[in-house]
Amino acid sequence: MAISQQLKEKIDRLRPNFPTTQALVIPMLHEVQHETGMVSEDSMREIAVFLQLPLMKIREVATFYTMFNKKAVGQVHYQLCSNIGCWLNGSDKLMHHMEQRLKINAGQSSTDGKYTLSEVECLGACGSAPVLQVNEDYYENVDLPMLDELMQSFSSKINAGEKYIGRETYNPEVWP
Ligand code: FES
Repeated sequence: MAISQQLKEKIDRLRPNFPTTQALVIPMLHEVQHETGMVSEDSMREIAVFLQLPLMKIREVATFYTMFNKKAVGQVHYQLCSNIGCWLNGSDKLMHHMEQRLKINAGQSSTDGKYTLSEVECLGACGSAPVLQVNEDYYENVDLPMLDELMQSFSSKINAGEKYIGRETYNPEVWP
């Protein structure tokens, strides 16, 4: 079973707040990703059964949005926007720097499972390009010194055994 009973109960509590069952697909995909780190094919099947919707209704949403990881990612998932606003502000240089530093290319994960580097579509914060999303947090107006500082900080924490999910509301005791 890919999805916990606890998560299903949470979705059941949300049901009255949503106009249709279909409207629960995105919240449930988010919850599944938060719980398991990704949205696998098995998870999609389980969501379809749980929500009593055709599998295609789940798959079409999960595959449309790049924010849903269809395969396992590292503990720290760097997602750098490469669309025009960010590209004009130097995202290509940032990507090159990250590839050098992590010794992987965009679209790959490190063999130790610590890092994944992804090039993603517009993150919707073009006014403060270039934008980097790390797990569930945004970093805006990123330049090389800031990037180095961030990467060093994540590296230190991961190497010290801390768990990083992102968004302090999800894990407030670990990341103040
Ligand atoms: S172009 Fe990068 S956030 Fe929109």
